[in-house]
Amino acid sequence: MSEARSQPVSVERAADGRRVVTYYSTVAVTLHWLIAVMILSNIVLAWLHEDVSSATSARLMLWHKSTGILVLLLSLMRLAWRVAYPAPPYPAGLPAWERTSSRIVHWGFYVIMIGMPLTGWIMTSGPRTKAALMLYGVVPWPMLGFVHGAQGQAAAVWHAVGETHGVLAYLAYLLIVLHVGAALKHQFLDRDVIMARMMPWMRR
Ligand code: HEM
Ligand code: HEM
Repeated sequence: MSEARSQPVSVERAADGRRVVTYYSTVAVTLHWLIAVMILSNIVLAWLHEDVSSATSARLMLWHKSTGILVLLLSLMRLAWRVAYPAPPYPAGLPAWERTSSRIVHWGFYVIMIGMPLTGWIMTSGPRTKAALMLYGVVPWPMLGFVHGAQGQAAAVWHAVGETHGVLAYLAYLLIVLHVGAALKHQFLDRDVIMARMMPWMRR
């Protein structure tokens, strides 16, 4: 492990006196872990729903759709926060290929965090859907007017979007494997500070 890669996760002053924070803010960390747990649960719910009775399946899918809509709202907040407060600078010794691949995976995740719920919402608002969506059986959530009851060309678009939800699921699996693999590599092979940037309890 190079000295630069293990520089402390902290608040420092640059040479020109600017304040440089080398870890993610509490808001970013809270949203990261909330969204991560919800996405992983949603994937499990989608997998489970096929192997259970139709009543249980409907309940699991209601949780899936409700959690998905919550992910959409939280991810829009996360994106707004990310634009307002850029990510902390990478540790100085981090190689260029790791910086580039981390950026690709992180922005790929934003596509998943917003694209999965949006395509799911469009799918659920489709021509065949009759009942309104009640989040967790309690909070009414609108159907998207431009697909609800769609015919012809619009119905074909709706069908394509439904397929996209499944395709994005494969992209999500790939990104999760790469992201968790990278986090474990940094923690256990490189033994650097990357994990601590997103895990406040590990900060020195
Ligand atoms: C589906 C689940 C997850 C999603 C969608 C997700 C998404 C993200 C995103 C978008 C970022 C970049 C934040 C930004 O710069 O705006 C990030 C950073 C990070 N994530 Fe995750 N994450 C997930 C699960 C995990 C897990 C399970 C771990 C740990 C094993 C983890 C560890 C980290 C770490 C350490 C960073 C900071 C990387 C850095 O300093 O550049 N994430 N995650
Ligand atoms: C965090 C966001 C979401 C994730 C990670 C997610 C993930 C998944 C996954 C992995 C599948 C199985 C895909 C396949 O095997 O082809 C699926 C299916 C599905 N999702 Fe989502 N989803 C999300 C949000 C939503 C939302 C917001 C809705 C609707 C409001 C929704 C509705 C559906 C429907 C209707 C299916 C098809 C179920 C079936 O008939 O087998 N999803 N989702």
